[in-house]
Amino acid sequence: MAGPHPVGDPAPLDGLIPASAAIGSETRDFGVYLHVPFCRVRCGYCDFNTYTATELRGVKQSDYASQAILEVEAAARVLTASGVPARPASTVFFGGGTPTLLPADHLVRMLHAVRDTFGIVPGAEITTEANPDSVDLAYLRQLKQAGFTRVSFGMQSAVPRVLATLERTHDPERVPLVVGWAREAGLDVSLDLIYGTPGETIEDWRASLTHAISQAPDHISAYSLIVEDGTKLARQIRRGELVQPDEDLQADFYELADAMLGDAGYAWYEVSNWATDDAHRSRHNLSYWRSADWWGIGPGAHSHVGGVRWWNVKHPAAYADRVLAGHSPAAGRETLDDATRETERVLLLTRIREGIPVATLSPLGRREVAGLINDGLIDDGLIDGRAAIGGTIELTLTGRLLADAVVRRLLTD
Ligand SMILES: C[S@@+](CC[C@H](N)C(=O)[O-])C[C@H]1O[C@@H](n2cnc3c(N)ncnc32)[C@H](O)[C@@H]1O
Ligand code: SF4
Repeated sequence: MAGPHPVGDPAPLDGLIPASAAIGSETRDFGVYLHVPFCRVRCGYCDFNTYTATELRGVKQSDYASQAILEVEAAARVLTASGVPARPASTVFFGGGTPTLLPADHLVRMLHAVRDTFGIVPGAEITTEANPDSVDLAYLRQLKQAGFTRVSFGMQSAVPRVLATLERTHDPERVPLVVGWAREAGLDVSLDLIYGTPGETIEDWRASLTHAISQAPDHISAYSLIVEDGTKLARQIRRGELVQPDEDLQADFYELADAMLGDAGYAWYEVSNWATDDAHRSRHNLSYWRSADWWGIGPGAHSHVGGVRWWNVKHPAAYADRVLAGHSPAAGRETLDDATRETERVLLLTRIREGIPVATLSPLGRREVAGLINDGLIDDGLIDGRAAIGGTIELTLTGRLLADAVVRRLLTD
């Protein structure tokens, strides 16, 4: 049921955060993430904090929205009492689990609570994740009416054999239907794809990309399958029942994705994310990569405000106990020191296309830039006119494949 918590300090029951979190808050966006920790069945590869009906230890899905709303209301009180100015949310993101397992009016109530408590900036991005088999037109219309702007469907693959290995429950033919309904309802659409599933061939992946592109979504995420410890997939691989694609094949998958998406008019803006234009980038995810502030509501959700990071108790039963007792659901937290904040800044900004300004790197990191250009890992500025040596670092295609190595070199000290 999802991996262990990070190691941190115990969090106080009143949830108050150090006053240092307020510094510079007026320059940072504020987002709200609402976790919905339920799935009908667990996919074999997934270690997200999510629970099927038999794992709920007596808590009811139908009570969840009210509990999450208690945390939304407490969040605003905690920020004010901690001296962090309340700001309206620039983005709201419902993730899971499967948010759309709840009736639409439960998501709407939670969204209204965010609006009533924090306010929502005009033109905010409001997204929900959805499984293709858990929504219909009426559901999506109800979301749109309440202010949702975007839906992100977990398509993963168009190939039945690959979907079966991933233990996905949806029929690939369902995807065009739900995308059509989302469009009819007036919502922007994103599709999530996974590549590198055991047994997947490059032709399978080409078919999935072709199918995804033919739906004309505004945004596509393509994630390399991570074999998470403790999952059924990891056990199947350990026992030799499934074989993981090697690194070369993974690189071929990525290159094919980038070429096909580029030809179809999608531009990358983060290593695993492509959009038709700037307006359709995921503003919520960009705020994570830019180390903005966000409050994560729900079991296991993580929050970050001004260098203070905390995470909630994981099980929905433990979460319900805490919020119903009027206590903070935070299980632990840490206040990031300057060195850790800098490492995270480089790690996250390097992976997005807007990149990291060279001038903000350490002197030794700056000295690596010429070598990284020589090695073909960052753009020399000739393609788009941005000179990396004096300006902003943008990864090349090879650099995106080796992003972790680039980050290590930029963090040289
Ligand atoms: C919480 S899930 C999305 C919502 C919904 N539950 C679904 O699966 O359709 C978010 C996305 O994470 C990705 N994901 C989950 N586990 C992954 C793994 N082990 N490796 C790569 N991607 C993964 C999938 O693409 C999935 O669509
Ligand atoms: S439906 Fe989504 S969250 Fe649920 S188990 Fe599958 S990938 Fe994980």
